[in-house]
Amino acid sequence: MSINHLNQSFRLPSGTIIPNRLAKSALSEGIAEANGRPSEALFNLYERWGKGGAGILFTGNVMVDKDHLVNANVMIAEKENFLADYTKLAEKAQANGTHLWMQINHPGRQAPVYLDKAPVSASNVKMPMRIYLEPRPLTEDEILDLIERYGDAALLAKKAGMKGAQIHGAHGYLVSQFLSGLTNLRKDKWGGSLENRARFVIEIYRNMRKKCGDDFPIGIKINSADFQKGAFTEEESMEVIQLLDAEGMDLIEVSGGTYERAAMVGSMQKESTKLREAYFMDFITKVRSKIKSPLMLTGGFRTSAAMEKAIEGGELDFVGLGRPFCLYPNVANELLSGKRTDCTVQNLKTGVEKMDKSGMMETPWYMFQIARMGKGFEPDPNLDVWKVYEKITGKKRP
Ligand SMILES: Cc1cc2nc3c(=O)[nH]c(=O)nc-3n(C[C@H](O)[C@H](O)[C@H](O)COP(=O)(O)O)c2cc1C
Repeated sequence: MSINHLNQSFRLPSGTIIPNRLAKSALSEGIAEANGRPSEALFNLYERWGKGGAGILFTGNVMVDKDHLVNANVMIAEKENFLADYTKLAEKAQANGTHLWMQINHPGRQAPVYLDKAPVSASNVKMPMRIYLEPRPLTEDEILDLIERYGDAALLAKKAGMKGAQIHGAHGYLVSQFLSGLTNLRKDKWGGSLENRARFVIEIYRNMRKKCGDDFPIGIKINSADFQKGAFTEEESMEVIQLLDAEGMDLIEVSGGTYERAAMVGSMQKESTKLREAYFMDFITKVRSKIKSPLMLTGGFRTSAAMEKAIEGGELDFVGLGRPFCLYPNVANELLSGKRTDCTVQNLKTGVEKMDKSGMMETPWYMFQIARMGKGFEPDPNLDVWKVYEKITGKKRP
């Protein structure tokens, strides 16, 4: 099969040329040092992924505030902390021509209680699960401080030699919480109308641009929808994407869902959608006609035939892959050379319907694979999902 389109380079609005159309989407690694410093395990992992052929590697989400973390052992970027270590990470990842972008995030209310006893958010709307506490609404000064922090993290990425930065505006984290009418009940200029709810992300983008300059690629990962009643809808997402486009985004990555509704790993999709691959394809096709910014789609892509078709048809410019990179670290080279035409990963099944439907074991099981690579081992596709369950919960299987 010809894979001419995936192999083509692409010029971003900022002028940067990306060598091909495959990207490793952000995957939270959970293997940094306890204080958020990039570790030897991360250097090993990114050296390996750097040889894997992706045009862009997005780091797993890097936190802007050490007091608010999504998971343990996540990387932290505050001011110029760990500059030498981020520089080493960039060198390892980029030695073979791939571009490393830092994904920048704050969990807001989606921070587990064992890591965050005082979570903050746009408003005091609690996640329904017991592992999350009710968040405190951010003050105006705190919002302004956070905007600076996102900008500082992007500048740190640039100083470290990374080739770009991405705002994590998806999956129910803080930027998503501001965008959604379900979690943002503010009455000031940061809430209410969609324009007000989008102010936080627009100001973050402007701050990053001001600090990093016009030639530094800046992108965003955003939900096509949150898939919850009263939350961020497709129509709203379309409007926000148009606002971001007008600001001059280099790359808009489309995903979907939150950790209440894990659509990003396919748990909300019908079997027919999964078979068609690319969970959010219908949405991106609609977006395409409305904006100029380059587009990337992540979630469910598994065959080079579907990836080629999407690029050839012009619906998108980059294909994002997440879980395949956890089992097949060389997957981009293999797809681009035609050696591999399919990168299907197993559908994790515990046999407990509620767990399987919620997709709750997807992230930890794949993080175990990432940790194996960090230690220099091969991924283990036969890893028992219940072993992972017992390790992360400390409980016996139900
Ligand atoms: C282990 C794991 C960690 C993830 N961490 C992040 C993250 O830090 N940031 C993010 O935007 N998405 C994250 N995701 C979502 C992926 O980037 C991607 O959107 C999702 O896995 C769907 O793509 P796929 O079907 O190719 O796996 C994570 C997914 C997994 C499985």
